[in-house]
Amino acid sequence: MYVVSVINYKGGVGKTTVTANLGAELANRGMKVLLIDLDPQTSLTFSFYDPDAWRERLRDARTVKRWYDSLRGDDGPVTLGELVISPGPANAHLSGTGRLDLIASHLGLSDIDLALARGVASGEEYDAALFRVRGALAQALHDHALYPYDMVLIDCPPNFNVVTQSAIIASDHLLIPAKADYLSTLGIDYLHGNVRELVDRYNADARRFATIRRHHKVAPGIAGVVFTMIQLLAQRPIAAHQGYMDQVRALGVPVFSTALRESVTLFATNTPRGVPVVLRDRVAAPVREELRQITTEFLAHLQPAGAAA
Ligand SMILES: Nc1ncnc2c1ncn2[C@@H]1O[C@H](COP(=O)(O)OP(=O)(O)O)[C@@H](O)[C@H]1O
Ligand SMILES: [Mg+2]
Repeated sequence: MYVVSVINYKGGVGKTTVTANLGAELANRGMKVLLIDLDPQTSLTFSFYDPDAWRERLRDARTVKRWYDSLRGDDGPVTLGELVISPGPANAHLSGTGRLDLIASHLGLSDIDLALARGVASGEEYDAALFRVRGALAQALHDHALYPYDMVLIDCPPNFNVVTQSAIIASDHLLIPAKADYLSTLGIDYLHGNVRELVDRYNADARRFATIRRHHKVAPGIAGVVFTMIQLLAQRPIAAHQGYMDQVRALGVPVFSTALRESVTLFATNTPRGVPVVLRDRVAAPVREELRQITTEFLAHLQPAGAAA
């Protein structure tokens, strides 16, 4: 099972769009895919369920907030497996034996940093508690109910709080959607540095605090940066976008050779109907083709870790 976090500090760069469509295309190719929505904005969840359905069927019982709450002892023990739901319309569009499941998010997914700080007094205790919370998602994914999944894709919130950190620690790879603009390119370098710091700190803490359970060294790789919302002119990215894409390549971060073009009609002005664009029949062929190519590249980027596992 691969665990991949889809991450970027910036909001509105296409994280959720990429997560939904990549997950859908992988499932359409026969994989069993679990999407986890960790963003309190809940966009991934709302791309499969309308807000009424969320309120009636998911809000109180079936969101990842319950699991994070249970970490603090606010709720009885909850496993991730209990929270999995299966969006009907998307699954009805899959060919073959694939599956696309979801753990939904909650508008009130709290920042558990604060709760942690309140509950723990001393420095050493705080460090130990933080270490446990950072590693909790990685451990919880070792759930028998989740063994059938080939792929877990985690849609991260646009911040670096402890919920995001727990996703990074749980991941084998990080996928970074980005827009080709100044702030996005700055952010990628910064993100890269912070991920490295977090991982080093976590591995050092594992030596300090992990007494009972054995901890594997955590080392998520960057699967790559996938550029989204690219404007094309005569089938090529406009010069301004190409410039920023080249800058990111120069950072030494892997960059997908396929970028997702801007399509306001398809993505931005379209009310989600529970079926990701890549699975819809009447969608402009080039956009679907780009999403498919991104999926193929994504799988190729994962191979080295797969071979080693
Ligand atoms: N390729 C695209 N072209 C045009 N609009 C897009 C594209 N990809 C995403 N969008 C739209 O941009 C907005 C932000 O995308 P989203 O995937 O929610 O970003 P994030 O999860 O990073 O906040 C959404 O309204 C989405 O529909
Ligand atoms: Mg999002």
